[in-house]
Amino acid sequence: MKDYVVAVVGATGLVGTEMISILEQRNFPVLELRPIASDESVGTIVGFRDEGLKVLPLRPGVFDNVDFVFSSAGAIVSRQFAPWAVERGAVVIDNTRAFRMDPEVPLVVPEVNPGEAFKHKGIIANPNCSTIQLVVVLDAINRHWGLERVVVSTYQSVSGKGKDAIEELSRQTIALFNQRPFDVMVFPHQIAFNLIPRIDEVDEATGYTREELKVINESRKIMGLSDLRITCTAVRVPTFACHGESVNIQTRKPFTPDEVRSVLSKAKGIELVDQVDQDEYPMPVTAATKDPVYVGRIRQDYSIQNGLNLWIVSDNIRKGAALNAVQIAELLIKKD
Ligand SMILES: NC(=O)c1ccc[n+]([C@@H]2O[C@H](COP(=O)([O-])OP(=O)(O)OC[C@H]3O[C@@H](n4cnc5c(N)ncnc54)[C@H](OP(=O)(O)O)[C@@H]3O)[C@@H](O)[C@H]2O)c1
Repeated sequence: MKDYVVAVVGATGLVGTEMISILEQRNFPVLELRPIASDESVGTIVGFRDEGLKVLPLRPGVFDNVDFVFSSAGAIVSRQFAPWAVERGAVVIDNTRAFRMDPEVPLVVPEVNPGEAFKHKGIIANPNCSTIQLVVVLDAINRHWGLERVVVSTYQSVSGKGKDAIEELSRQTIALFNQRPFDVMVFPHQIAFNLIPRIDEVDEATGYTREELKVINESRKIMGLSDLRITCTAVRVPTFACHGESVNIQTRKPFTPDEVRSVLSKAKGIELVDQVDQDEYPMPVTAATKDPVYVGRIRQDYSIQNGLNLWIVSDNIRKGAALNAVQIAELLIKKD
């Protein structure tokens, strides 16, 4: 079996750190790992297997002889370095929004559209975290009953905004308990003990946030359903890990909740936790650090024909980012 030279751009961030642990946990065949971050972190040490590796600067030559690049250092950085890596023969699996809607770039969730990964021209995009956990479930439902319409409301932890956001929630929570003043730096408002119904920039024409548009447009692209009727409200909540999603679905064909439970319990990547009378349903505290997309609270929506309500929780740093990216690379190396 071949071993690969792997670069991680954004290696000191939340997603990059998780990426390196997942490569190790899943025994990805790494010949050499090159951790890369901003110039401020160059020379700091990142752990991989039993080694301490020095963080390298982002320069074209760092991609010489690299097979895979996992990138999570923001869209501007990805647009800058991706051509350097692709020219040198590497496959870039990019976690940012830079290339997701480019028709030339596959947008892949291995449980849903694995075949797309093989159509790449050097770059494969990893979808937005809220989209990944959603489409794993929607696709399973679509295959059995067809999707007529989808309404999604997200409950997204601060980890979706990176390491500075985790610090901000901690700082504000401690300050509030101690009745001290605090700064608001990462989010537009206080996040501790609050809910913020705006994630990312606002599209002036529609009033939707970019996060909401990502969920809508990326879901359509991944499932190959360009006309899917889908809408979204994305909300930042003061939890540290995992994203929750309340999803209302209208299917084309009739179903019973037990049939939905049976299909989802057998679907790849999904774990069913659905015994509300026993207080068993997916929650961030149980999904954090785990791989599956958890689904529960499955019930009929009696207000419409073929209406279905369900609740999804997954770890946005794992399946929503790092794990999905590593699974894409695993698809490619299996073919090797
Ligand atoms: N968090 C999530 O749930 C999630 C999910 C999917 C996708 N993403 C995407 O992944 C990206 C990173 O997210 P994150 O949560 O890991 O953020 P983060 O914790 O803030 O980490 C950002 C990383 O990017 C590096 N970086 C910043 N500017 C750089 C530059 N000019 N050159 C090289 N490296 C640079 C940082 O290095 P330093 O430490 O040196 O500053 C750090 O390693 C974002 O585009 C985000 O949208 C995040």
